[in-house]
Amino acid sequence: MYTEKVMDHFQHPRNVGEIENPSGMGTVGNAKCGDIMRIYLDIDDNQVIRDVKFKTFGCGAAVATSSMATEMVKGKTVQEAMAVTNKAVCEALDGLPPVKVHCSLLAEEAIHAALWDYAQKNGIVIEGLEKPKSDIGEEEIEEEY
Ligand code: FES
Repeated sequence: MYTEKVMDHFQHPRNVGEIENPSGMGTVGNAKCGDIMRIYLDIDDNQVIRDVKFKTFGCGAAVATSSMATEMVKGKTVQEAMAVTNKAVCEALDGLPPVKVHCSLLAEEAIHAALWDYAQKNGIVIEGLEKPKSDIGEEEIEEEY
């Protein structure tokens, strides 16, 4: 049911933990299952994501997508990190079962929430970034990939 990459990231998740005094932090809940994701970003003066960590009360698919998403944003600029969508993360994992796609939204939304926090604190604008929701509702999870 899960691809090898999903199993690998689930069993050996990358970047689990916290960052003290993060440049940005975002927490998002999934209204459907009640799972929660928190992302911490350490961003340098050139707006490059130096480090990223995540913590979750989430299912295996949420762990795997967050692990992959953190790997994908690390070393990128905050603007480049906007291209790390849940679709891109799912593709990098060679796909998720359709019923689990909503889990992958947690990672994207939490990264956006952390970027938003960083942008607010520093008075900058990240193109394409909208004010994050604290809960992912039903409407987004209808999307199909
Ligand atoms: Fe809640 Fe996957 S079932 S995030």
